[in-house]
Amino acid sequence: MKGKTALITGSYGGLGTCFVNIHAGDGGNLILVGRSQKKLDEQAESVSKQYGVEVHAITADISSPDAAQMIYDTCKENGWQVDYLINNAGFGGQGDFTRERTMEQDMTMIAVNIEAPTRLCKLFLPDFINRGSGKVLNVSSIAAMMPGPLQAVY
Ligand SMILES: NC(=O)c1ccc[n+]([C@@H]2O[C@H](COP(=O)([O-])OP(=O)(O)OC[C@H]3O[C@@H](n4cnc5c(N)ncnc54)[C@H](OP(=O)(O)O)[C@@H]3O)[C@@H](O)[C@H]2O)c1
Repeated sequence: MKGKTALITGSYGGLGTCFVNIHAGDGGNLILVGRSQKKLDEQAESVSKQYGVEVHAITADISSPDAAQMIYDTCKENGWQVDYLINNAGFGGQGDFTRERTMEQDMTMIAVNIEAPTRLCKLFLPDFINRGSGKVLNVSSIAAMMPGPLQAVY
């Protein structure tokens, strides 16, 4: 929405790019979050040029337990008010739970898909409540509603 700022994790991925373009197309400003600084910089430049909106970028690997706090602190320090939090970054993966999937693969999946969005909600929601405005979009999957073979953790 015009003039509102959306923070979007996984901004240069498939769905992330769609959210970015829809929001910027409506005149909304953006805070892009992703692991690759190069991709963030390219996206920020092209989106601000195409839509004439304000675009900031935060480089973060959200599988790290410190990332959410760093993202929140960066917004605060720069005076960037987040109006919409879009928890979009995530990934899947298949394989036999006991024989093929490693501990690290599955714990990283939980950290990115579950832990980071929870941390970001914990940090940003109090501001939304105090202001009386703000929205959260948590991107999930149909696979969350039904069990899938070889997708025990996803
Ligand atoms: N595509 C589908 O069919 C589908 C279906 C249902 C649900 N979903 C969900 O929709 C969301 C977006 O999916 P997509 O298909 O657009 O995926 P995608 O194209 O793979 O994009 C995922 C985005 O998340 C980022 N990301 C992954 N791990 C990260 C990390 N540790 N820290 C920061 N960013 C990270 C990726 O950045 P890098 O490129 O740097 O890794 C990428 O920008 C996910 O939550 C996914 O589970 C997708």
